[in-house]
Amino acid sequence: MSTAHTPLIQTKDLCKSYFNDDVATPVLFDINLTINKGEFVAIMGPSGSGKSTLMHILGFLDMHTTGRYLFQGTETGELTDDELAKIRATRVSFVFQAFNLLPRTTVFQNVQLPLLYHPTIKLAEREKRTLAAIKTVGLSDRKDFLSSQLSGGQKQRVAIARALVTEPDLIFADEPTGNLDSASGVAVMQALQQLHADGHTIILVTHEQETARHAERIIHIKDGRIDSDSKDFKRVIASASSSLK
Ligand SMILES: Nc1ncnc2c1ncn2[C@@H]1O[C@H](COP(=O)(O)OP(=O)(O)O)[C@@H](O)[C@H]1O
Ligand SMILES: [Mg+2]
Repeated sequence: MSTAHTPLIQTKDLCKSYFNDDVATPVLFDINLTINKGEFVAIMGPSGSGKSTLMHILGFLDMHTTGRYLFQGTETGELTDDELAKIRATRVSFVFQAFNLLPRTTVFQNVQLPLLYHPTIKLAEREKRTLAAIKTVGLSDRKDFLSSQLSGGQKQRVAIARALVTEPDLIFADEPTGNLDSASGVAVMQALQQLHADGHTIILVTHEQETARHAERIIHIKDGRIDSDSKDFKRVIASASSSLK
């Protein structure tokens, strides 16, 4: 059952191993994590520490091996393939390092794309939402440009608008600035901050301190385990200061 106080994401002793030719490669160990609606969380850690694996599990692109993953209070291990597909299509969106835009297609068409699979959203509503998403990332004056006519930073902002247009509960961004120069990276992070200000929940994966700085909470992963969580740090400060009162 989901209530206003139910966390958006809750994992309990979540573990993940990859299996290739019966050889198990353990990658994530005892991940205990709670993320609430509206949070902007950065998951940091060195290359190979398990950031993308965790993001893929939390975003329903992959399954954990043991432990529990509750999404809005629902035990995800018990969902059918159809239910998982529906969550993937309507509740979560992804922004990847490589943009993944369609070439020879306009900004408007790229952003509109996920809505074409929603049979209940009619043309007028589709156009309204598409233009609003493009406006949020500051590209209204480029809406009729082909994706090939955009800079890297603009392409990534189109990908963010496309992630936003379905109004998902959760947006994942995996190394979204990894292919960008620093000025374009800042513009992309400002677009994500705008989404956060508008009330969206964002999980950002990065190995760059400068990029993670934009989030309000930073979780460090090391060798597949949570090494630190700035939320715990804030709780320690809060309890220390309240005990002084
Ligand atoms: N499909 C796979 N099969 C086996 N091992 C994998 C697979 N995908 C990733 N790994 C391993 O899991 C570990 C974590 O990878 P990943 O989650 O991509 O880390 P990060 O995103 O932090 O760089 C790495 O050691 C990687 O080699
Ligand atoms: Mg990765």
